[in-house]
Amino acid sequence: MNKAWWKESVVYQIYPRSFNDSNNDGIGDILGIIEKLDYLKDLGIDVIWLSPVYESPNDDNGYDISNYQAIMAEFGTMADWNQLLKEIHRRDMKLMMDLVINHSSDEHSWFVESRKSKENAYRDYYIWRPGKDGYEPNNWESAFSGSAWQYNKETDDYFLHLFSKKQPDLNWENTTLRKEIYSMITWWLDKGVDGLRMDVINFISKDTNFPDGENPEGKKYVSGAKYFMNGPKIHDYLQEMNKNVLSKYDVMTVGEMPGATPEEAVLYTGERRDELNMVFHFEHMDIDSGFGGKWDVKPWSLITLKEILSKWQYKLEHDGWNSLYWNNHDQPRVVSRFGHDDEYRNKSAKMLATTLHMMKGTPYIYQGEEIGMTNVRFSTISKYRDIETLNAYKEKVTEGWPVDKIMQAIHIKSRDNARTPMQWDTTTNAGFTEGEPWIQVNPNYTDINVKQAIQDSNSIFHYYKQLIQLRKKYDIIVYGAYDLLLEDNQDIFAYTRQLGSEKLLIISNFTEKQVAFSTPIDVKLYRTHKLLISNYEATDELEDISLQPYETRVYYFSK
Ligand code: NOJ
Repeated sequence: MNKAWWKESVVYQIYPRSFNDSNNDGIGDILGIIEKLDYLKDLGIDVIWLSPVYESPNDDNGYDISNYQAIMAEFGTMADWNQLLKEIHRRDMKLMMDLVINHSSDEHSWFVESRKSKENAYRDYYIWRPGKDGYEPNNWESAFSGSAWQYNKETDDYFLHLFSKKQPDLNWENTTLRKEIYSMITWWLDKGVDGLRMDVINFISKDTNFPDGENPEGKKYVSGAKYFMNGPKIHDYLQEMNKNVLSKYDVMTVGEMPGATPEEAVLYTGERRDELNMVFHFEHMDIDSGFGGKWDVKPWSLITLKEILSKWQYKLEHDGWNSLYWNNHDQPRVVSRFGHDDEYRNKSAKMLATTLHMMKGTPYIYQGEEIGMTNVRFSTISKYRDIETLNAYKEKVTEGWPVDKIMQAIHIKSRDNARTPMQWDTTTNAGFTEGEPWIQVNPNYTDINVKQAIQDSNSIFHYYKQLIQLRKKYDIIVYGAYDLLLEDNQDIFAYTRQLGSEKLLIISNFTEKQVAFSTPIDVKLYRTHKLLISNYEATDELEDISLQPYETRVYYFSK
């Protein structure tokens, strides 16, 4: 396996709207990010992934772009962005931009033109189909509820939007559109961008017959995923983009890919495939969703979590590369989801961090994860801002769900759990803004905040720092082969990493009880062994251990 800087890096995701507000208008901004770069440098971050900062009407908080080459006024100016890049590079960090090219905003000039008439020069930049018997062209459901098609009066037909109706899908079949996209990416890379995170990039090639999705229950709208996820020309498009743009730069790429399997990921990320470096898969994120989808919350099991993550580790062992994440701006907070966000918040956050960062792949930290920020539980829907959450609420009310049940699902799953403002200190609004924040802060900021975390040497923050430092010191953490232990154990997630004559043993207790662990490793075979990191006082001794609630340990062996 080849070495690469992006394999050795740790990435930190910033959701700019909620990170730090420098001008007190209640919305985070670019100058606010610059104020916090020393903090990220201190944490040990190599790469910053910035969620979209482009011009946008914000139907989906910037994931609906109306101008790919301009900065959203609320976030600042292009001069601010240039300054940001300079300041990031000055600190020897890198910047990864978010690239949203499956769809644009309906306010993008391309779409404004496209919808005007069937003869318009931009007509084929989007996906247009006639209605069927007075209805939508097919039964596909949008990810944000309702039909994935929207009627356009001017042309008496429908355009496709897999997300909100203000996010029309771009037509990748169109060579001119593809060329425009490639030159736009080139423009950013020439400005010195070091990485690209590609939004739902495995959706860009659709089955152009647009068949109905299977509908055994006779629903109004159903998933059409089969016909647009990992579609017929996806690899052609990615290889073309690589050849025309990416290959000319030393750039790190990660494709967000709902529904991608590890077999597909090998094709997307294989060393000789010339597509992308790594993908974000969703398998472990879907683990608590029932048949009814995301809002149909079901209990998750550690066995399944281990099975999923291990499958990805094994499948990409020889070719391709994994990304490692528990959180992002679309997911609930991990300490509330797979840990314990009350009594064992500190212990379980460290345990989860260890379990993830010691696997093989590039780890991603989402803002606030490093201080153990938790889910929020706003009492009424009026406090939520996310379009997916608001649309789902309306839909579930119509379907007759009791409000209590809907709110319960929202408390567990809403994307706004990740989007409450970053908690910096104990001053008003957690130090995020002196104005009225666009979304309320989590009331627990008085206990959970960066200032406290920096002062407390036992904090989650300092633990993340240590994990990152270990990665810089031990090649085995980056390149060692993964092997799962105790696959049937319901309480413990244990695995090893192996590189030449070195070995790592990672043991994590995912429960709030004491659990016995006896090591399957023959310690005598190794010249030395030592404890690298733990979230409790622990010793180098490891034969028979009683693990404390949410205890985690990493041992290092060498011959
Ligand atoms: C995935 C992004 O992460 C999410 O926030 C967004 O709503 C959709 N793609 C649509 O762009």
